[in-house]
Order: sequence, then structure tokens, then C-alpha cells
Amino acid sequence: MQTHQYDVVIVGAGGAGMRAALEAGQRARTAVITKLYPTRSHTGAAQGGMCAALANVEEDSPEWHTFDTVKGGDFLVDQDAAEIMAKEAIDAVLDLEKMGLPFNRTPDGTIDQRRFGGHTRNHGEAAVRRACYSADRTGHMILQTLYQQCIKHNVDFFSEFYVLDLIFNEVDGERRTAGVVAYDLASGEIHVVRAKSVVFATGGAGKVYKTTSNAHTLTGDGMAIAYRRGVPLEDMEFFQFHPTGLAGLGILLSEAARGEGAILRNCDGERFMERYAPTLKDLAPRDVVARAMANEVREGRGAGPNKDYVLLDLTHLEPAHIDAKLPDITEFARTYLGIEPYTEPVPVFPTAHYAMGGIPTTVETEVLADNERVIPGMFAAGEVACVSVHGANRLGTNSLLDINVFGRRAGIAAAAFAAKAPWVELPESPEADTVALLEGMREREDGERIADIRRALQETMDANAQVFRSEATLKQALADIASLRERYDRASVQDKGRRFNTDLLEAVELGFLLDLAEVIVTGALERKESRGGHFREDYQNRDDVNYMRHTMAYRTENADGGAAVRLDFKPVVVTRYQPMERKF
Ligand code: FUM
Repeated sequence: MQTHQYDVVIVGAGGAGMRAALEAGQRARTAVITKLYPTRSHTGAAQGGMCAALANVEEDSPEWHTFDTVKGGDFLVDQDAAEIMAKEAIDAVLDLEKMGLPFNRTPDGTIDQRRFGGHTRNHGEAAVRRACYSADRTGHMILQTLYQQCIKHNVDFFSEFYVLDLIFNEVDGERRTAGVVAYDLASGEIHVVRAKSVVFATGGAGKVYKTTSNAHTLTGDGMAIAYRRGVPLEDMEFFQFHPTGLAGLGILLSEAARGEGAILRNCDGERFMERYAPTLKDLAPRDVVARAMANEVREGRGAGPNKDYVLLDLTHLEPAHIDAKLPDITEFARTYLGIEPYTEPVPVFPTAHYAMGGIPTTVETEVLADNERVIPGMFAAGEVACVSVHGANRLGTNSLLDINVFGRRAGIAAAAFAAKAPWVELPESPEADTVALLEGMREREDGERIADIRRALQETMDANAQVFRSEATLKQALADIASLRERYDRASVQDKGRRFNTDLLEAVELGFLLDLAEVIVTGALERKESRGGHFREDYQNRDDVNYMRHTMAYRTENADGGAAVRLDFKPVVVTRYQPMERKF
């Protein structure tokens, strides 16, 4: 076992992690630990843009941006956090520009902006051009830019190291952060990394679902590790289904396509969004569009031989415009579906895309131990966190913004904490639980294969906890998860080796996914209303009297040695906008 010591350790090298590292690295001795090579992080798959009310092409204001974020999030957004995000958005974009990010430009040389779902002028009057973008590779450009800056500022990277545990220790009766335990994929060796501040920026958990835009690596590690160590998870029942995944595959086809003028049509060629959202139409928020698409299919107006998808029509757009603005996604349609988007509409269907919930934090990114107290030395930012700027439904392009605004805040806060906090002693054998977890998996002989259990989990989540949910489907999902847990406890890995044992790590990741699926479904079952991305067929209306509150899920130990989810609740922060009926 090796040990290391840093003032600040950041877990995850996506946009939030590297934006945090860039700030912390200029103030404190900082390391980033990532299970990938940094520029392979999932931020690189983000396509359409990062929003800010720059008003470069149309009148706009941070206040309208805040309102759209709150309304888009179906009034579950903490409005103080949304105000901060919309205000700091402008500098967040300009900072990236100064670092050299190649944004698309207007003819007069300013950063160009495009339309995206739910972003409006004057409180819903019409769609506004708020998303700054680099063709349909905005996340890729952000990742490359931030990585270059981190290297310039001497941030240390531990690439292909899996963080598998958080180290806490008690000081004067209070739980404090002492570091993390990591596993080196190349050697199979355990590393204990002591730190005054730990920032979790590990991204989402889309692999809970079968049809997802998320990479294979999005297994909710940070959320699950924190949850297992007693940190609550907030609002996990809210999962976003992006309307336009390539049908049958889930690969993301950016909302930027609709921002550039593409239209959703059913099997009759009808622009059906006119019926569901007469003002914003195809550019309504994602929850509205995803439900409308699923409804068209349910009511028999789906396209294709099985009538199980709808069509995204770009055929009226100039090929030169498509090539300039949407080069990657149109290539995806050609490569994966054999469709030529210049001349044929593209089959699309909602795909699991984004966890609105996560590790609860203050606006300074400090992790909350409960509704009031923070855990000294622990911070979280990006999709792993719930600050909560997205509420029940995130607006497109608010994610690249979130990682930049709150990633920056996390780096500054973590370094400031490290500058004044004393070192926390490591507990005895902080690696013991991780070693026991890995060796237990490795030693078990002749068990079921991990991949079969993972597939069954993803299938039940797709079938029972997707765009439409009900008590019956959610209870089915919970029962399936319980029996999958029993199978998981008897499963074994085929690779018993030390070096590059991805089989072993996939087994650990499946344990994380099972924990998170249970939290998602338990929260969804309890929330007897429909709000944002959570639509209950048996409770189709929003219920502000009983459910205008955040869900806080805690892991509790049972007497029999098992664990269960305990739910508690937290008020929503309302500053300016009282809940109103959402019409688009
Ligand atoms: O459609 C997209 O380009 C995705 C953007 C986002 O999730 O923010």
C-alpha cells in the first residue's frame, strides 16, 4: 500500500473536477484522482452548449435565466443557488474564452449563441439564444481547455485510479474528512491519499438504466461511496430523460439540432409538439418533450416498423448549415443508424441522461451531513452534487454551466478550508474496508456473472422507473432490485488477477448502481405527485401542498446486517418566484 498527502484532493477529472483543480491548484497542493484518462471524462460527450445571458445576439438577462431555470425545474430549484449560477454564468463563459476555448463566433466576432429548450426571454414569451457553443463539441472543448490549464498550474493527476472509499474520522465528536482510498488499475495496488479537503466531482449514474446517453463509466461511484459513509443523497428520484437519443441505442443527438431548427414528427409527419407546448414547441423543457414523445408512441403514432420511436427532421436545413453547426451528431446518425440526415429524418427516443439529484451541498459546495450541518473538509460539484440548481428537471446547457460555476467555487472553497484547517488523523487501517470488499469479490468462486445482473438491473429500471412510473411499476422495480442484490452477493468475477482487472472494478461499480437504483425507486415511490422528470401515472398533478420539498435519503443499517433507505425531507429555498402552473 502507498500513502500520499495533499492539501486538496479532487475526485473526478470531468469539467467540475478540473475547474475545481484549476482554482485549488493555484492556492494549495492539489491532486486529481480519476478512473479515466482526464480528457476521456464524460464532459467530453456534452454537445450543444453552455448557457449565459451574454445578450450577444438577442436581448437577455440573468434574471430571465434564473426564472427559466426555476420554472424548468418545476419549482423544486433552490432559488438562491439558481440566482448565483445565472449571475456567475457570464464570467464563467468569458473565463473559458480567455483560456482559449474556441467558441463559435458571430460575424462581428463575439461569441455566438443558439436556442435551447426552456430558455426564454421575458419570462416565457419566446425562445432566446442563450447557449454559447463550439459546434456540437462544446464539452469536448471545455475538457481539453481545462486540462491544459491544470497542467500549466502543476496539478498532479492520478489517472486510472479508482477512488473506492472516503476516509472520515471523529474530532471532538464531529465527523471530519481525512482523505480517500484509491485502487490503481494498472497495478492493483491500494493507495491511501490523505487530504485536508476532498472534492467529489465524479459525475452521474446513467448506467442505472439500459438506454442511456451516458458512458460505460457513469456508475454513480461518488454518490454511492458517500451514501455508504452516511452522507444523504438528495432528490434522487428525479432523473432526466433526454428526448433525442438515437432510437434503440440511446446515443445523444444534441438538443442543439432543435435549437438550429430541427422538428420532431410522428408517423403522420405531424409536428406534434405544437399540441403539447404551443409557444416553445420543440424547444420546451426536456421533461415535457420526452413525455410527449413517449405519449405519441403509446398512442400508436410512433414511426418505424414497430412504431416505437419518433422522427427528428433536419431535412429542411441547409446541408452547409448542418455541417457547420452539427457535424458530430449527424455523423452519429450516419454511422450508427445508416441514416443520411440531409435527406431522411432520424429515429429518436428518450434516453436516460442526467441525475438531477446527488450529494447535497451548500452554495459554497460544502457537503451537508443533514439539513443543517456540513461535513468539514468535504465538497462536491457537478452532476454528483445537488446544490440544487436543477430541481425536478434540468434545462439543457445548464449542466456545462453548473460544472464551471460550482466547480470553480469548490476549488476556491476547498483550498480556503485547507489553508486554515488542521490535519485530521487517519483512523487505523483506513484501507481495510476496501481491501475486504475487493478480496471478497475476488475470492468467491463459481458465482453468477456480473454482466448478467447489471443487464437485469438496467432492464427493470428501463421498464419500471423511466419516463412514466406508477406505484405498481416502482414496487416491481424494488422487488427486482432486492432479488438482484441477493444474486450480487453470490456473484463472482472471472479475472482473479491484479493488473488491469476491470472485471473486478465492474463488480464494485454494480454494487454502487444497485444502491443508487434502490434510492431512486424508494424516493419515486414516496413522491406521490408528478413534477419535472418524475411523472406518476397514478398521481398526474404537481402537489405543492405536500411535496414542494426535497427528498433526503439516508442509508440505515438493519439488525440483520443489511441496509435500508430512510427518507427525510428538506424545504425548498424560494426567493422571488412562487410556484405557478407550467405552460410552455
Ligand atoms: O442536447 C445536448 O446537447 C445536451 C446538453 C445538456 O445536457 O446540457
